Amino acid sequence: EKGGYDWFMQKEIAEQPQAVADTLLGRVNGQGRLKLDEMRLSEDELRAITKIIVVACGTAYHAGLIAKYAIEHWTRVPVEVELASEFRYRDPILTKDTLVIAISQSGETMDTLMAIRHAREQHSRVLAICNTNGSTIPRESDAVVYTHGGPEIGVASTKAFLTQLTACYLVGLYLAQVRGVKFNDEVEEVLTQLSDSPAAIAETLNRMEPIRKLARSMVGARTVLFLGRHVGYPMALEGALKLKELAYIHAEGFAAGELKHGPIALIEQDLPVVVVVPSPKRPLLHDKIVSNIQEIRARGAKTIVIAEDGDDVVAPYADFLFHVPELPILLQPLVATVPLQVFAAELADALGYDVDQPRNLAKSVTVE
Ligand code: F6R
Repeated sequence: EKGGYDWFMQKEIAEQPQAVADTLLGRVNGQGRLKLDEMRLSEDELRAITKIIVVACGTAYHAGLIAKYAIEHWTRVPVEVELASEFRYRDPILTKDTLVIAISQSGETMDTLMAIRHAREQHSRVLAICNTNGSTIPRESDAVVYTHGGPEIGVASTKAFLTQLTACYLVGLYLAQVRGVKFNDEVEEVLTQLSDSPAAIAETLNRMEPIRKLARSMVGARTVLFLGRHVGYPMALEGALKLKELAYIHAEGFAAGELKHGPIALIEQDLPVVVVVPSPKRPLLHDKIVSNIQEIRARGAKTIVIAEDGDDVVAPYADFLFHVPELPILLQPLVATVPLQVFAAELADALGYDVDQPRNLAKSVTVE
């Protein structure tokens, strides 16, 4: 049951620190080494991989987009990310040295299932990242890393998303370790930061009140845009998806660098724009997004800015500023996605919609 929460989604958002901790549990040992029990691919097979293709749908696809940044950085293996529904029908290039990573909470998504069947027919290896023990996708895969998120009842994915990210990070670090591409120091350091992330997520959850208020003040919004760079870009896509599916408000996510190539034409007086800002420790990225915020604000946008603790450079251009705890940029989605989830759910509730059961949607999509 809901255990005192108004909706399952609220409960599941609150469970995220635990869900991430459970997904890490037993996989990281004290010496900064990783152990993935369900990795039924030999180290030799993993060393032979020349390309990774992530296939998934919806929110799981957004997790895959973020995984690309992390896995490529840590392993130097090229990663493509593709919507499962597109992949199957375009004659993708697959060999036995391609690792296909299928991400699926339910393990029953038909598009993703069809994609891995196709990959296996082409003799590629398939690794599933899945939340549901014994479901079809992991059964049909060569290896599986389970996310230990526990059951997710709310149709909109929240804790499943954070645990999918966690599993993707683990897989990336494991590959780096096995392939010896990066000196172990980096793997060790990131593992420590990852182990600290549940506390950072819990801290983020403690700060939600202003986001709730903001969301409830925005029931008149017709369109909301989301902008980000680097891993902030998939986060923008995820924030927009949450708002569409829950609040039925038109929302779009853009790479902030694309603004001047088109979307900036949409900016008008009072248009709400949510911007995810990377750490100021990445000055090149940070400076660019600050100028993006200035550009849209100068055209009248109402800027809702999510930035790291201590980042006050953005304050003069933010109509609303929300700080998240510091994490390295690749891990920032673990904290910066949380306000986007809460924002969408609160706005939907304020509009009188059923947060757990949005119209026209099913929890697991078993048709193509
Ligand atoms: C969005 C959402 C969906 C799912 C997608 C894939 O909140 O829940 O976009 O992420 O249908 O589902 P799984 O992960 O079960 O394959």
